[in-house]
Amino acid sequence: MGNNINKSHYSGIVAEWYDIILHTEKNDIKFYRDVVKRFGGPALELASGTGRILTELLKEGVLIDGVDSSPEMNQQCKNKIRELNLSSEIYEQDLVELNLPKKYNTIFVAGGSFQLISDRAEAQLTLGKIYDHLLDGGILVLDIFTPLEKNNLLNDGVWVKGREGRNDQGEKLLVYASNKNNLYEQTINGLYKYELYQNGRLSETVIGEIMLRWYGQFEFLLMLEKAGFSNINIQRKKIISTHGEAFVYFAHK
Ligand SMILES: C[S@@+](CC[C@H](N)C(=O)[O-])C[C@H]1O[C@@H](n2cnc3c(N)ncnc32)[C@H](O)[C@@H]1O
Repeated sequence: MGNNINKSHYSGIVAEWYDIILHTEKNDIKFYRDVVKRFGGPALELASGTGRILTELLKEGVLIDGVDSSPEMNQQCKNKIRELNLSSEIYEQDLVELNLPKKYNTIFVAGGSFQLISDRAEAQLTLGKIYDHLLDGGILVLDIFTPLEKNNLLNDGVWVKGREGRNDQGEKLLVYASNKNNLYEQTINGLYKYELYQNGRLSETVIGEIMLRWYGQFEFLLMLEKAGFSNINIQRKKIISTHGEAFVYFAHK
C-alpha cells in the first residue's frame, strides 16, 4: 500500500538535508500553527517528516502527534523532540493504513503531502481513515496544489534549479527538479537531482523520483464528502513557495 517510489524517496541524502534545504519555508509553519490554535488540540500531523512543523507547535505547548512512513525522517523528528525535552507520539505508518490508538480534534497534512498518495482509490481510502481518527466535531485541514500554477506547465520536462542549502560543515546541496505533467491522469512525475558539494567540488549526485496526484477543487470536495466529511470550506492560499497558490480544504466531521 502507498506509493513505494514516494516512500523510499525520503531517505539518505533527502532525509539528511531536508530541514536545511527547507529552512526558508516559514509560511506553512505559521499557517498550520494558526489552524491548530484556532481549532484546538489534540492535533495530528500526517506525513510529519522531520517534524519541521510539528516541533514548532510542540514548543508552543500544543498536544500534537505525528505519522510518517519514513524511518529516517521519523528519527530526525524524534531526535528533535528529545533535544527539546518535549513529548509526542511519532508513529511509523503508511497513511493508507492509518491505525492509531487515539482520536484528534485537528488533523492536518501540510505542503501537498497528501498528494504523495498517488493512487486514487488509496487516496479515497485514506480520507476515510482520517475521518475515523477525528473526534466528533473535529476538522481535517490540508492543501492541494495543481500544476496549473507558476511556470509548471511551461517547464514540463525541463531541469529547473530549485532549493539549496549549506550545512554546518560548509557542504552545499543544490537541488534541480524536472516535472512531467500528465494533465489527463492528473499526475506529476517529479525527478530530482541532488548535487552535494564538499570543499567546493561536486562529490555526489543522487537522482530521486516522486509521483504526485492533483485534484480539481470540486473533485476533491466530492471525495471529502464521500469519506463522510461535511461543512467543507475551500480557500486559495499560498502555503509553500514552490507550489504557487494551493486549494486549502477545511473539512469537518
Ligand atoms: C514533503 S515531506 C513533508 C514533511 C513535513 N510535513 C514538512 O512539511 O516538513 C513528505 C513526507 O511524506 C512522507 N510520506 C510519503 N508517502 C507516505 C505515505 N504513504 N504514508 C506516510 N507518509 C508518507 C514522507 O516520508 C515525507 O516525510
